[in-house]
Amino acid sequence: MTTGNYDVVRDDIKSILSQPGYDDGSIGPVLVRLAWHASGTYDKVTKTGGSDGATMRYAIEANDPANAGLAYARDFLEPIKEKHPWISYGDLWTLAGVVSIEAMGGPIVPWKPGRKDKLESAVPPNGRLPDAEKGADHIREVFYRMGFTDREIVALIGAHCLGRCHGDRSGYEGAWTYTPIRFNNQFYVMLTKQNWHEKKLDNGLIQYADDKDKLMMLPADMAFLHDPQFKEVVQIYAKDKQTFFNDFAAAFGKLIELGVNREEEESKL
Ligand code: HEM
Repeated sequence: MTTGNYDVVRDDIKSILSQPGYDDGSIGPVLVRLAWHASGTYDKVTKTGGSDGATMRYAIEANDPANAGLAYARDFLEPIKEKHPWISYGDLWTLAGVVSIEAMGGPIVPWKPGRKDKLESAVPPNGRLPDAEKGADHIREVFYRMGFTDREIVALIGAHCLGRCHGDRSGYEGAWTYTPIRFNNQFYVMLTKQNWHEKKLDNGLIQYADDKDKLMMLPADMAFLHDPQFKEVVQIYAKDKQTFFNDFAAAFGKLIELGVNREEEESKL
């Protein structure tokens, strides 16, 4: 199918971000999460998973408990796919993530088209995405599998400045910052400045609350405070928003490129 104009798609994505009835008034956060979960299944050893293929279209991956709630994101983007049928889902989902980050005040993340939608046989096994109940060892195992360094891992978790946890999706509740539809370094600021204490939810899950019980952290977020190597970088980003923006743009740009194979295309030229 001939390629159309990606700038028009960017504008169409921007035009649907504001949704007054939804969460904090924007679908930007859940679109960022879609781009991340579509990409975060990558395994550098087997070269499987990742955003190339958009395999979350298939029930097995869509129903991975880690992806609960992402049907909202995929459904919001469907009219844009219908309007521009030439764009692959993999390109649309990743582009929606970078357009959202920028529109919410974040850095410009480098993005290139060229993902091709794959058959169901390309669906990676469930369970490759991080578990919010676990700590630093688990986080390193998951992100090293994708090929990230400790500094890149800390940069990526800064996206928790955005959005919120939903009881009917992950089981956790609440937002990490007071500005959940602005992209900034507030995740690190809140993590280091607030006094966090354990809070047991009715469903048995444990999360962390600040003194006023307005904000939240996941057990996995707290690992970034407790692990000395992670904490060192957290402190840099809490003080220096520009360094965070630069590092985040590079790390998110790398995330959405994992496993993207343009060779076939290039060899035809
Ligand atoms: C240790 C790694 C991570 C864990 C355990 C984790 C876990 C979670 C959980 C449990 C939620 C709540 C989902 C819901 O109830 O709707 C969430 C939301 C979110 N996560 Fe993460 N996450 C991780 C890393 C990341 C990364 C690397 C990014 C992006 C770069 C990201 C972006 C987001 C965003 C934007 C939301 C808000 C979604 C919304 O408002 O609907 N997360 N995450």
